[in-house]
Amino acid sequence: MQKDKINQIHIGFVTISDRASRGEYEDLGGPAMQEWIKRALKGDWIPVARVIADEQALIEQTLIELSDTEGCSLIVTTGGTGPAKRDVTPEATASVCDKILDGFAEQMRSVSLQYVPTAILSRQIAGTRGSTLIINLPGKPSAIGECLEAVFPAVPYCIDLIGGAYLETNEDFIKAFRPKHAIKQVQGT
Ligand code: MTE
Repeated sequence: MQKDKINQIHIGFVTISDRASRGEYEDLGGPAMQEWIKRALKGDWIPVARVIADEQALIEQTLIELSDTEGCSLIVTTGGTGPAKRDVTPEATASVCDKILDGFAEQMRSVSLQYVPTAILSRQIAGTRGSTLIINLPGKPSAIGECLEAVFPAVPYCIDLIGGAYLETNEDFIKAFRPKHAIKQVQGT
């Protein structure tokens, strides 16, 4: 990672969709993820956004770039988690992760099932690559907030544990949980 990137918080947003990547429709998922994170996080952070086709090698390459070169502490993806033939986001994610965090997927599917029975079709996963947490979200923009709300309370502490940036949330929007010993007094707060 480049030296000047070390003290900044980078968050990756990857839209995985054949049609959005060809410009056949507007990418709504990427902006929906950014909007949610903007409301959730306190302080400054830098978005690193990509819109790519449902190609496993390309997804892997993009996740590796955002993690290893851009130094993202968190990468969220949208799209490609269903059972359709072109859906390969979970396979690409699994192949670049060191550890899979099953609890994220269990929680997201369980919460999503309260909204729609087809949530069972989502194969979304989450895992870590070095100091980056990667979370797959479904392609539907309204499902993005539903899933993020369900797992985000555990995200900052997870990123602490893997040596990523220290994330603080806007507690009136989403409250993160950290054990007492892990809470830092950040300058200016
Ligand atoms: N989760 C929520 N919360 N809301 C939804 O509408 N749609 C489901 C599922 N998860 C949905 C959801 C459907 S229909 C599919 S096929 C899968 O997410 C995968 O979607 P993706 O391929 O766009 O990632």
